Amino acid sequence: MTIKKICGIGAGYVGGPTCSVIALMCPDIRVTVVDKSKEKIAQWNSTKLPIYEPGLELVVKKCRGKNLFFSTDIEAAIKEADLIFISVNTPTKTFGIGKGRAADLKYVENTARMIADVATSDKIVVEKSTVPVKAAESIMHILRANHKPGVTYQILSNPEFLAEGTAIDNLINPDRVLIGGEDSPQGREAVEKLCKIYENWINRDKIFTTNTWSSELSKLAANAFLAQRISSINSLSPVCEATGADVTEVARAVGLDSRIGSKFLQASVGFGGSCFQKDLLNLVYICECLNLPEVAAYWQQVIDMNEYQKSRFSTKVIESLFNTVTDKRIAMLGFAFKKNTGDTRESPAITVAKNLLDEGAVLHIYDPKVEEFQIIDNLSAFDIDNIKNRVNIYHDAYSATKNTHAIVLCTEWDEFMELDYERIYVQMTKPAYIFDGRKILDHEKLQKIGFIVQTIGKRVSRIAVSKTWGSSTQM
Ligand code: NAD
Ligand code: UDX
Repeated sequence: MTIKKICGIGAGYVGGPTCSVIALMCPDIRVTVVDKSKEKIAQWNSTKLPIYEPGLELVVKKCRGKNLFFSTDIEAAIKEADLIFISVNTPTKTFGIGKGRAADLKYVENTARMIADVATSDKIVVEKSTVPVKAAESIMHILRANHKPGVTYQILSNPEFLAEGTAIDNLINPDRVLIGGEDSPQGREAVEKLCKIYENWINRDKIFTTNTWSSELSKLAANAFLAQRISSINSLSPVCEATGADVTEVARAVGLDSRIGSKFLQASVGFGGSCFQKDLLNLVYICECLNLPEVAAYWQQVIDMNEYQKSRFSTKVIESLFNTVTDKRIAMLGFAFKKNTGDTRESPAITVAKNLLDEGAVLHIYDPKVEEFQIIDNLSAFDIDNIKNRVNIYHDAYSATKNTHAIVLCTEWDEFMELDYERIYVQMTKPAYIFDGRKILDHEKLQKIGFIVQTIGKRVSRIAVSKTWGSSTQM
């Protein structure tokens, strides 16, 4: 039997784009994406999709109503599917054992229980969510303990490696597809069926099959390695600032070694996104549970370095502005955790905004894709006085920067490179500061305009701040 009907449970950043691309590439397969959120499904069925992802709208338009469907009828979709992708969220636990570190698997478990309740025919259940090693075993236990007579299950691990902002391209041209399965005739048959789906558009030599536990661990390992590279280069940025080295030059020099490679060495205000911190914490927790404290401490340091970088950047802003930002108007350009997404989960901008608000600043925030309610919602999570009057959201960079003392750039949106900074400078309170947390601006040009410029991993304008008198001079 070949796969004719797929059900994708979870219509989020992974489930939505992944199932849409499968529908695009496999016109003979009927793909139904389900979610418990009625609002989200309504958005998937509308002209304004619930997530912003370049190229996604086009794919959905092409397939929706033909072989791609979005529905809240989870039971019906499970019943008719030959293969089910689980793409639900696996956030860090906020309570109980493993609080703040372990992955909360309640959504995965609920999904497994629902499949067991509803399924009346054999299913291949594919774990696409990022999970701790051995999670497939728990899913298998639940399914096999609750199965209906004659119904059999195979569980596969098929972690997703897409990055937000480039998801469609990553899905169409992946570096690899990883599939882990049980080492049994039935397990191998299930792996083969999933391979066949991907082979509709991906060369077989890019499809890597492993045992289930290697596949699960490889996903955590890949994110840990990527995050580690960013923390490694970020750790050198204060060394550069203190010595006169330039972190961009260092990254290039290091990355030219073909054993190291040049990607993911961009120093920044810190990494964000829903995956890196969560998956590192998960890995740390697993190591602790396995009684491997040295290994746990090693990976914990990647997170600690990221926290240091975010707070170091906020401190740099405050210190440069005469050691006080109370009642100062600060424009924040960018709030998403990276460009080309409206996602703000774990965005470094949230930490920077919180630190500045704690010091009494008034923020003028502009992001091309993050909605006003999202920004307010993210910042309302903190206990900050009078937040409504101190956080103002703007719809373009020129209005956001008008009458402000400083610009703090937190997201590397292309449009920020193309702004008319002379026009912006004229409208700002002087001295006018720019803090480039993404190293995307032309610092020399900005200095010529009159800005005092600070960035990561390079001395641009040297500010001598007198801690006693709170005065500063540009050098
Ligand atoms: P998300 O929060 O955007 O989407 C998850 C969706 O699952 C939500 O819409 C939620 O309503 C739905 N859901 C939860 N429980 C459900 C249930 N019982 N029935 C139906 N729907 C249910 O999350 P995401 O960013 O898409 O991530 C999903 C998984 O993929 C996570 O494990 C994550 O670590 C992993 N992942 C994410 C990315 C990424 O870039 N976001 C990349 C690779 C892997
Ligand atoms: C990441 C992984 O890249 C992806 O493979 C996995 O499936 C999910 O997690 P994502 O979080 O969407 O993807 O974006 P990514 O491009 O990895 O960026 C994560 C964060 O690191 C962003 O805040 C980004 O700005 C930052 N970053 C990235 C840097 O600071 N420097 C870099 O060199 C690269």
